[in-house]
Amino acid sequence: MFDHSQQKSLFEKTKNFIDHEPTVNDLEALRDILRYHEWKYYVENNPVISDFEYDLVFKKLQKIEHDHPQLITPDSPTQRVAQDIVSEFKTVAHIVPMLSLENSYNAEDLLEFDKQIKKLIDRDESVIKYAVEPKFDGGSIALVYENDVLVRAATRGDGNQGEEISANMKTLQSVPLRANFSQYGFTKVELRGEALISKDKFKEVNAYREQEGLVLFANPRNAATGGLRTKNPYETRDRGIEAFIFQFGYAEDAAGNDVTRKLQSHFKSINALGDLGFKIPLSEKKLCDNIDEVIAFCAEWEAKRDTFKYEIDGMVVKVDDYAIQDICGSTSHHPRWAIAYKFKAKQATSKLLSVEYQVGKIGSITPVAKIDPVQLAGVTVSSISLHNADFISSKDLRLGDTVLVERSGDVIPYIVKTMEELRDGSEKEIVFPVVCPINDTDMPIPLERIDGEAAWRCPNCVCGAQTLQRMIFHVSKEAMDIDGFGRSIVERFYALGWLKDFADIYNLDYEAIAKLEGFGKRSADKLQASIQKAKQNPISRLLHALSIHHLGKKASKLIAEQINHVLDLQHWTVEDYTKIKDIGPVVAENASLYFSEPANIELLQRMESYGVNLTQTAEDKPKEVNMEGALAGKTILFTGTLTTMGRKQAEELAEAHGAKNISGVSKNLDILVVGESAGSKLTKAQAIGSIQILTEEEFVALIGNS
Ligand code: IVH
Repeated sequence: MFDHSQQKSLFEKTKNFIDHEPTVNDLEALRDILRYHEWKYYVENNPVISDFEYDLVFKKLQKIEHDHPQLITPDSPTQRVAQDIVSEFKTVAHIVPMLSLENSYNAEDLLEFDKQIKKLIDRDESVIKYAVEPKFDGGSIALVYENDVLVRAATRGDGNQGEEISANMKTLQSVPLRANFSQYGFTKVELRGEALISKDKFKEVNAYREQEGLVLFANPRNAATGGLRTKNPYETRDRGIEAFIFQFGYAEDAAGNDVTRKLQSHFKSINALGDLGFKIPLSEKKLCDNIDEVIAFCAEWEAKRDTFKYEIDGMVVKVDDYAIQDICGSTSHHPRWAIAYKFKAKQATSKLLSVEYQVGKIGSITPVAKIDPVQLAGVTVSSISLHNADFISSKDLRLGDTVLVERSGDVIPYIVKTMEELRDGSEKEIVFPVVCPINDTDMPIPLERIDGEAAWRCPNCVCGAQTLQRMIFHVSKEAMDIDGFGRSIVERFYALGWLKDFADIYNLDYEAIAKLEGFGKRSADKLQASIQKAKQNPISRLLHALSIHHLGKKASKLIAEQINHVLDLQHWTVEDYTKIKDIGPVVAENASLYFSEPANIELLQRMESYGVNLTQTAEDKPKEVNMEGALAGKTILFTGTLTTMGRKQAEELAEAHGAKNISGVSKNLDILVVGESAGSKLTKAQAIGSIQILTEEEFVALIGNS
């Protein structure tokens, strides 16, 4: 879109306008500069100025337009700012219908597609090139440009007519408000694309909604399609929607002739659109010389779909050459020259057969749905956590229901919804137990629910289920981190009666272990070495590994900083705990109760007699605050993607230079460091005003100087 010398000149002009006041004669230059930086930021993902500098130039343009309102044009970057709340969406007809795609699911289907194409064009020997690109999983859009200016945006609707969403789409920086189609002689153009939100942005949006008590979106697609149709264009913008263009739909010249085929092929057209400033698939697309290459490219993307920033549900294969496309033609439903290759489904319906209950380490009862096994993205799923009783009632789940199940790459399987419309009356209510469902002794134990918590708990475990879960947690990576001591080994030793409490873990009979089937001396020695190592852990780990309700990693660390020996806590009162900043009354109460119980003290003493460290280590001691550092006494927060270092590394660096990392944007925050695609945190910090906002580069420069 911008060649090297243009970029250089626009960049220099930017610097000039940052330092000097522009006049009304600079109006177009200012607009060009802003368009350039929007393209760098939103399309290339490679900004060359800070957001602060962008805003500065933006405000200068705004001021000139404010003084000369007659000079405002609809394609000015200032016009992205949404004006009004949309009260209802108008229905508009697409210039050419937006067709669907035929689906294929495997290599055979693609070979058959290739055969059909060759049959259609009646040239079996001919070489057919196919353009292959992701099948984006968002909401379809159509954009119309007239005389290089965006005049209309619409949803796909029924394919012939959609809803006009121009105001919303204009807020998206990845949609150019102006594009130089006239260089090709096009005066009217219709483009097709997909509005999406990235998986990261989706998590951020949902985290925010959870905090605000709003209903969560089931997946990025719902978040994006919902965002296209919000009544408030600002919300569309804040949801971080991006628009990819995947099809050159229609073009007309000044005389009204259809010149859609002028650029000869799909691949050339899409690349031309990329040059014009649109967001297009880059290394995710390929021009293939034959169907075997197509099959390989589809397989490659199916394997790595989870690594892509956006959700895709397949690939789209298109005959590249427009002349050949035209010979193939279309049905009323789909073009014959294109086919979708669908990845293995992430969603499926299944029957909810029964609900089983599991008990956690502190007695929380987790309901687990047993469903008719289904294949989801290549994995068989038959059990799905239902989290708690509230989840069951909020989804109105019943035994015998047909449920929609989803499994996304980095998300565990979950039930999206029940299909009420398929009920026949035979479905049964799920009755959450009132007594512990695990305990099989004659003494029923009523479940309890603590105010403000979602989980029902068994308060008085006699069956040992909780002890076992606690033991599994105790040895896990999160807690004592005993390498090679997995869940199944704990279960096995527990069943053999070797593990009755935590102390037993540190007093195992390794000769007996070596004789177990599947073990042998080497494995037993290895396990012994891991356990020996864990005995030396800092006491913050040990405290966390005791499964004291609500005592997490952070609180364990804060307490460990204050004591010489774990058993010092016998003498601590609730107030001693709450005196520590960031320790609340609930943790204080639970910890104090735990250490007032003689059986627990005895357990810890036994552990110590087996060599487990209960004394504060160097790692437990509070870190010295660097009062000399460039960031001494400041609070800091990192947001967005950092490019030269990881988030954790940046936080450690900041700490080493005297700063304290905090987790949210508030008046207490001194510095916000913004990486790529920073979202709501940046907006919030800007609104507060007093927060210093730094780019990653500025942050590095700052600490580099100290
Ligand atoms: S081409 C005439 N290409 O899939 C060509 N569609 O079933 C028709 N989609 O609603 C569409 N990524 O929104 C095409 N690279 C891509 C696509 C794509 C996603 C969606 C599109 C449409 C549906 C077609």
